Amino acid sequence: MKFSTYLVLFSLFLFQSSNGSNILVSESCMEASKFDPTFSFDFCVAYLSNWQPPSSNLEHYWVNSIQLTKSNATNGLSFIWKLLEDTSIDQHTKHCLKGCFDSYKDMVSELDAAVVAFKAKDLDTAGTKGERILRYPVILFVFLFECSKGSNPLITDSCAKAKKTDKYFDYDFCIAFLEEASSKLRAPPSNVEDLVVLAIKESKSNATNIVSIVSKLLKNNTDPYVKSCLGDCLEFYTDAVSDLDDAVAAVESKHFDAAKRQIESSLDFTDTCEDQFKEGEGVTSPITKENHSFFELGLISIYFIPLIGQHS
Ligand SMILES: *[C@@H]1O[C@H](CO)[C@@H](O)[C@H](O)[C@H]1NC(C)=O
Ligand SMILES: *[C@@H]1O[C@H](CO)[C@@H](O)[C@H](O)[C@H]1NC(C)=O
Ligand SMILES: *[C@@H]1O[C@H](CO)[C@@H](O)[C@H](O)[C@H]1NC(C)=O
Ligand SMILES: *[C@@H]1O[C@H](CO)[C@@H](O)[C@H](O)[C@H]1NC(C)=O
Repeated sequence: MKFSTYLVLFSLFLFQSSNGSNILVSESCMEASKFDPTFSFDFCVAYLSNWQPPSSNLEHYWVNSIQLTKSNATNGLSFIWKLLEDTSIDQHTKHCLKGCFDSYKDMVSELDAAVVAFKAKDLDTAGTKGERILRYPVILFVFLFECSKGSNPLITDSCAKAKKTDKYFDYDFCIAFLEEASSKLRAPPSNVEDLVVLAIKESKSNATNIVSIVSKLLKNNTDPYVKSCLGDCLEFYTDAVSDLDDAVAAVESKHFDAAKRQIESSLDFTDTCEDQFKEGEGVTSPITKENHSFFELGLISIYFIPLIGQHS
């Protein structure tokens, strides 16, 4: 009986219902706290007292609580199913929802098995099943936490719109960069313009870093062809830094079209840089990886600028 008492109490934590308080409540809580020293008696009484319907039968409590939990989980399943069918929800969120869906599905079948075992008075099996059920809230919590990390709707919506403009747009990079950059802000970004400013400033710091990488490579390199390519790249990225300075100023004074043109021109330069390496025989660009982030950051700004003002 002890074990089932323990289970009743924990199953009850998964939901709550109408009023009712009786002697059984405090007795059960007392039992449970003897069974598990980490168990809070006060917490238990508070929860159980809010629970329905006063009954003298503990087994009744248990089966009821499991059945309520099950109907709760079943509602959860159909709710998540609807969200998964919703085409306006982005892939990242759906991925998280799929995890929640699977957890809920497992939970429903564990609950079924626990009721069967309980009715057959197989308390050990019911107990194990019950214990496993108790872990679901934790699993769900982890999923919800994962979801909430990537769920700033301003960011996911805007990256999704950019992806619609250009199917080669790196959606994952977009989310990862903007989430990371906005987590460092004192207040979360409140509109697309804030996101554009983040991307342009990062582009500029990227270009500045690339300039210093290229100048180091230049000092180190002896191949005249590579040296001449690197020399040109150095010039291109130096120009990009000043283009991006102008772009930041343009955005700040709300000249969005001008900002977009400056960013486009900074990207043209990088293509020229990479192309030169491609023309040389057996030479590969040492800064292709840097080109990728720089390029994607530029695309974020270019595709987001037309979205400014569409959100509020
Ligand atoms: C499950 O139970 C909780 C607590 O009573 C309630 O807030 C929630 O809305 C229920 N969820 C579903 C899907 O029934
Ligand atoms: C460019 O910015 C991206 C995104 O913040 C970062 O991952 C990358 O390391 C930066 N590259 C350079 C060369 O600064
Ligand atoms: C310069 O060349 C040396 C020797 O080839 C190498 O170990 C070093 O990493 C290079 N430095 C840079 C910045 O490429
Ligand atoms: C620079 O990187 C972007 C993104 O990966 C790519 O589309 C572009 O072609 C690259 N530029 C060159 C010249 O390789």
